[in-house]
Amino acid sequence: MKRLLIVHHTPSPHTHEMFEAVLSGATDPEIEGVEVVRRPALTVSATDMLEADGYLLGTPANLGYMSGAMKHAFDVCYYPCLDTTRGRPFGVFLHGNEGAEGAERGIDSITTGLGWIKAADTVVVSGKPTKDDLEACWNLGATVAAQLMV
Ligand SMILES: Cc1cc2nc3c(=O)[nH]c(=O)nc-3n(C[C@H](O)[C@H](O)[C@H](O)COP(=O)(O)O)c2cc1C
Repeated sequence: MKRLLIVHHTPSPHTHEMFEAVLSGATDPEIEGVEVVRRPALTVSATDMLEADGYLLGTPANLGYMSGAMKHAFDVCYYPCLDTTRGRPFGVFLHGNEGAEGAERGIDSITTGLGWIKAADTVVVSGKPTKDDLEACWNLGATVAAQLMV
């Protein structure tokens, strides 16, 4: 059984709606052989990261960057994961009301350092997620989970 880890900091209703849609896509019954594990970014451990085969990362944009919680997750896990997790697929969902470019750039830079492979385009939503936004989140979850099917 492969494991997909969702690391998320989703404190607001809008960001949480995105998380629920991503989770729903990742756990679609048509995707077999993939266990989905979720961890709030402030609680994730290096062991959680090492035991996963792929990742979904969700955060608001705060002050031009990813949330401090998501940065904390990388701070804790970066060096233990370096080399060991190279080549694993991942996807990202971001919520921001004033431009999430800095958050996206930061995550792209760190995941490039880790050698992870982006399995789907990053989903960025501003304001209340629309039906299309939530569908994009669902597709993101399903796409990354499907990558892990053997
Ligand atoms: C201190 C603070 C800084 C923020 N900085 C940014 C930012 O740099 N870029 C952005 O797009 N949104 C920014 N936001 C908006 C948050 O991303 C937004 O509040 C969050 O995604 C939740 O969305 P909601 O407030 O619509 O529920 C900021 C919010 C706060 C409270």
